[in-house]
Amino acid sequence: MTGAKITAIGSYVPARRLTNADLTQMVDTNDEWIVQRTGIRERRIARKDEYTSDLCTAAVQDLMHRYDKKMDDVDMVLVATSTPDFTFPSTASIVQHRLNIPLSAGAFDLSAACAGFVYALHTAHSYVASGMHRKVLVIGADTISKITDYNDRSTCVLFGDGAGAVLVESDGQAGGFKGFHLGSDGGGGHHVYRTGLSHTVNDVEMVDSQLLVQNGREVFRWAVRTVPDGVKQLLGKAEMSLQQIDWFIPHSANMRIIEPICERMGYPIEQVLHSLVYFGNTSAATIPLALDLGIREGKVQNGQNLLLYGFGAGLTHAGQLVQLDLAVQTGEPTTL
Ligand SMILES: CC(C)(COP(=O)(O)OP(=O)(O)OC[C@H]1O[C@@H](n2cnc3c(N)ncnc32)[C@H](O)[C@@H]1OP(=O)(O)O)[C@@H](O)C(=O)NCCC(=O)NCCS
Repeated sequence: MTGAKITAIGSYVPARRLTNADLTQMVDTNDEWIVQRTGIRERRIARKDEYTSDLCTAAVQDLMHRYDKKMDDVDMVLVATSTPDFTFPSTASIVQHRLNIPLSAGAFDLSAACAGFVYALHTAHSYVASGMHRKVLVIGADTISKITDYNDRSTCVLFGDGAGAVLVESDGQAGGFKGFHLGSDGGGGHHVYRTGLSHTVNDVEMVDSQLLVQNGREVFRWAVRTVPDGVKQLLGKAEMSLQQIDWFIPHSANMRIIEPICERMGYPIEQVLHSLVYFGNTSAATIPLALDLGIREGKVQNGQNLLLYGFGAGLTHAGQLVQLDLAVQTGEPTTL
């Protein structure tokens, strides 16, 4: 086994802001309800002609510029997304071509909804640590605005668009991945979905709108139960304690989910990094966006213990304990 590490990060959000005030013009809602129930003030919305592959490319360009990294020796591209430009070709293949990543590199999209980025990190770690791949580009990106029902006030206030990218590579030294835990409960698949070729999940007939549908209360209950238990199991496997975690980065679904999760874990909310307030729930992008915000603000340092935990449709969840080993930054990050 060779050591795999996260060595660089980049991110991107579209320019257009959708504020709580804007939403009051669209549905029967108000700023106070949204802030109290979710913690969200704004989201970024992709242009009509701006797709997930565009967000991915911009996030990788930010990474390349900041850390002076080249993509000509990347040997695998993983894009975690629920909103690929196409069912096929994959978003990863589109990104591979745009960034001139060698034809010998593998490229595929990974579908694990809001847990997708952590699932992709887990995959990248396995590839690099086993010695099968040397440099894997991992991207979490979504344009959920394109599948959001802007007549449904219970979902349209939650979601936004964004992308975050990291490089996972090995320098032959000790690795930065300290433990993982993941799982899936397909029995809850009908609680958050978008219909595809079939309209039935778990013998339940779905609303065939081609837009995101969710039973927010059920997802809330499941997440608050599942994440603290998953964290406990992860720490047990890694033989570490909660006190050793410098930053907890849960999926930024909603502050109303993060708070009870922290309460149940007995973890201080002050040591949570999230990307909710100005970006909303960006699905596969929330964790890399939150991590990058923490780095940009000077909070997150190389060598600290970070606990990432994604959860969402599937229902799927995945946690990963990592220490960053970022290269020296040589360029300024793009403005978020
Ligand atoms: C969506 C969520 C914020 C709703 O909060 P809640 O406290 O469960 O609210 P409810 O759905 O029970 O609705 C409470 C009331 O607020 C109303 N309401 C819902 N959305 C509203 C909005 N945007 N503005 C104003 N009122 C709203 C409901 O209609 C309901 O009114 P009623 O009591 O008159 O029927 C919450 O369920 C949640 O966070 N769920 C998890 C969803 C999530 O993050 N999913 C992504 C997972 S990856």
